[in-house]
Amino acid sequence: MRSTLLKASQSEWLARQVRGRSFAQRASRRFLPGEDVEAALAAAERLRDRRVPTLITLLGEAITERREAELVADEYLEVLNRIEQRDLPTQLSIKLTQLGLDVSRDVCVEQLSRIVARADAAGNYVCVDMEASSYVDSTLDVFRAVRGSRTNVGICLQAYLYRTAHDLEELLRLNVPIRLVKGAYNEPPRIAYPAKRDVDENFFKLAQRLLSHGPPGAVPHAFGTHDPHLIMRIQDFAAGRGLPKDAYEVQMLYGIRRDDQHRLAAAGYGVRTLISYGQHWFPWYMRRLAERPANLLFVAKSLFR
Ligand code: FDA
Repeated sequence: MRSTLLKASQSEWLARQVRGRSFAQRASRRFLPGEDVEAALAAAERLRDRRVPTLITLLGEAITERREAELVADEYLEVLNRIEQRDLPTQLSIKLTQLGLDVSRDVCVEQLSRIVARADAAGNYVCVDMEASSYVDSTLDVFRAVRGSRTNVGICLQAYLYRTAHDLEELLRLNVPIRLVKGAYNEPPRIAYPAKRDVDENFFKLAQRLLSHGPPGAVPHAFGTHDPHLIMRIQDFAAGRGLPKDAYEVQMLYGIRRDDQHRLAAAGYGVRTLISYGQHWFPWYMRRLAERPANLLFVAKSLFR
């Protein structure tokens, strides 16, 4: 089921069929407050009022024209302006294929640099997302180029890839804030752990390494997971090392395990919610279904409603 949903996530034909349908829009609202930035900012305000800081991301991938990459970067600059105007505790999370990674390295470095520089001026921070394995080398390359001159940028690494232990060591040497996640794409067993149990174990091993290394600066390392068992193991390990509850962050997606997000925040743990917005939600939404096929029930309910 997981790999069928992940294959379906890449179908442009299916995306066109589904996007305009009202049942699909209803179902997507569970994970997406709305398609425009104002809906995302309103959700960030509501979460701020419950002491949960946020990250915002514009959905969309694989841009092939320089002009499109510039427009995406312009949009992120505008989001940073609005975050600053409202004084929100909201950072950005960005996919490099949206900033022209498929166009050229230079275009992507240029657009990411514009955003990171503006974020720096506003005292804000940008996390670079990690996409399918074919993009890992180029993503790290662009990230290093921009990180060379700014320190308010970090990167996401995926625990399902065998290579991640090595990448993590390289990045720790640069004192980079890292968000560790399990990984959301369809990868072959040649390069990624096929069994969830092994991914979970590798996640915990890498988490221990991050926590032992200590915080990289003002922005702590983050664990992007909703897995309660894994979160508990991380908390126990951190407490055993005498780390305060906010020395690291647990990051979750908008709409998933909301009670856990509020409970963690109320207990004083570092927690942050990633809010997505934008019209290109189909591939992203299918990846959320693939993570938990039981979510298909919500889609079915929305269809019958
Ligand atoms: P896991 O799959 O182990 O499930 C544990 C529990 O969490 C489930 O039992 C369920 O209760 C809940 N849950 C998990 N997913 C759910 C869903 N979709 N709907 C409802 N409940 C769900 N990936 C990537 O490749 N590159 C990236 O840059 C990022 N960035 C990112 C940022 C943040 C903040 C998060 C939280 C996640 C990502 N991911 C990502 C996605 C990540 O790789 C992974 O696919 C998902 O987080 C699912 O794995 P978990 O560890 O959360 O839960």
